[in-house]
Amino acid sequence: MASASHLFSPSSMGMSGSGRCWGRRRNRLIGLRCSMLEEHSAVGSSSSPKPRFPRVVGKGSKLIGCGSAVPKLSISNDDLAEIVETSDEWISVRTGIRKRRILSGDETLTDLAAEAARKALDMAKVEALDVDLILMCTSTPDDLFGTGPQVQRELGCKHALAFDITAACSGFVLGLVTATRYIKGGGFQNVLVIGADALSRYVDWSDRGTCILFGDAAGAMLVQASQEDEDGLLGFDLRTDGQGHRHLHATVKADSSKQNGAAFVPPKPSSYSCIQMNGKEVFRFAVRCVPEVIEAALSDAGLSSADLNWLLLHQANQRIIDAVATRLQIQTGRVLSNLSNYGNTSAASIPLALDEAIRGGQVQQGDVIATAGFGAGLTWGAAIVKWG
Ligand code: UT7
Repeated sequence: MASASHLFSPSSMGMSGSGRCWGRRRNRLIGLRCSMLEEHSAVGSSSSPKPRFPRVVGKGSKLIGCGSAVPKLSISNDDLAEIVETSDEWISVRTGIRKRRILSGDETLTDLAAEAARKALDMAKVEALDVDLILMCTSTPDDLFGTGPQVQRELGCKHALAFDITAACSGFVLGLVTATRYIKGGGFQNVLVIGADALSRYVDWSDRGTCILFGDAAGAMLVQASQEDEDGLLGFDLRTDGQGHRHLHATVKADSSKQNGAAFVPPKPSSYSCIQMNGKEVFRFAVRCVPEVIEAALSDAGLSSADLNWLLLHQANQRIIDAVATRLQIQTGRVLSNLSNYGNTSAASIPLALDEAIRGGQVQQGDVIATAGFGAGLTWGAAIVKWG
């Protein structure tokens, strides 16, 4: 009887010349599945017989291109005061937010993500065909099965593996760190990290405690393999505490159809609740945990807050940003914020603010930035990065 490894070896299946499949060398079973897909369908087929890149380990990762995109429709605090009992004064004093962008008409999250990614590719001078991996960080995909592949199609990144990372407002930081791991351990060269969310789809527009906070947007970063001494990820720390899930969530609705024991009752199609948030608890969590995780990431980098050029937090509330900056003894002039114009855009907020700061000339080549995401999960994490 043949051993399992023999059964699944490419040569035993007559597939030694099949098309590209990431990870094929390390996982023959996955290679087998990918090759079978290619044989049975013209969609997804590839004529290249081998992986394009040797599997090199120990490389650095440079951040070399960024971009962002926002929907056309802008909603002011006064606009919201027309639909819920609130005021421009309450919203701007308690949150720092003055307006936000909302998807409307036929705009999609895929469109926004692709626009942001195209700008990042342009800045990095990287061709779409040279992108190896697209990490689409979103909790509000256009398709339940993932938006990454649609972004890949829109961009024409035919050689790229593409999938989604779901981690709410921490998504971009997790995506950035994930990109560097694929480069270091997997031999990938060009990785697009996209943070894009449309929380407006899950907001209860009659709840003044949440509807004033959120907006839609996308931001992208091109991370490229580099020499070890040019590494742009200097340190990081990532954390999760599922115990805190109850404080911030949008949970799938339970199926109400009852099985009576005799005949199977088909379940109803699922949907999600609107965003449920205990604002005070999330505020306390952010002010306590974000400085800790930034300090851990700084320690990982062998740096202190005095070495930072910039602090860039997930844009949730200006009072959180100010409290964390004070705790880390970082002066206001070194804190990036564009919250007033866009509100909380979840996974998009960090790359959107970073893109504006880079294109606006605030952040310069070689600047060191402490960035931190935090939110539903609960998840939170910090990365100390060097631009360019
Ligand atoms: O990205 C995920 C991370 N999310 C966050 O970081 C959110 C963190 N939390 C926050 O930013 C804040 O907790 C909020 C901005 C959500 C709320 O601010 P707050 O200072 O914690 O207000 P509160 O919830 O304690 O409410 C204070 C008062 C209440 O009235 P009473 O009970 O004192 O009479 C609320 O009903 O303000 C009232 N209120 C409002 N009033 C006018 C709550 N929302 C509004 C509103 N307009 N939009």
